[in-house]
Amino acid sequence: MIGDLLRWLVWCVMKWTAALSVGNAALDEPIQQLFSVAERLRQAICEGFGKVVVGKILDELIQYTVGHFEREERLMLRIEYPDYLVHKAAHDRLINKVQYLQHCFQRGALTQTDALDQFIDQHLSEHLISFDRALAAAAMRA
Ligand SMILES: [Fe+2]
Repeated sequence: MIGDLLRWLVWCVMKWTAALSVGNAALDEPIQQLFSVAERLRQAICEGFGKVVVGKILDELIQYTVGHFEREERLMLRIEYPDYLVHKAAHDRLINKVQYLQHCFQRGALTQTDALDQFIDQHLSEHLISFDRALAAAAMRA
């Protein structure tokens, strides 16, 4: 279980770089916060904190994720973003996946590496780079 979580965190603690920017400071800032929370989560695990502490930071990571998605969705509505429904559906899928991971963690059964990998791939390569960059570009044109 901890091995899978650490594997996930290796990705999460990638340092923020311009390559990860979506080109909009208002959208980049909460993503940077997500990385910061993920770093604290990694540190808590590496320093041997228990399930309660790790679980609380995981809760925080989820709250940041949900909060970030909600901000994006408000932005999409404000600018009448044409791909709102598709983008929101992608958010909903990712929230469901991360909540499932939290559920597995709480039950001590976070052993499904495939689910972790899928979450990472979608969030990084599909969502952050594609969906959010398209939204950022549309927001700049609005
Ligand atoms: Fe998004």
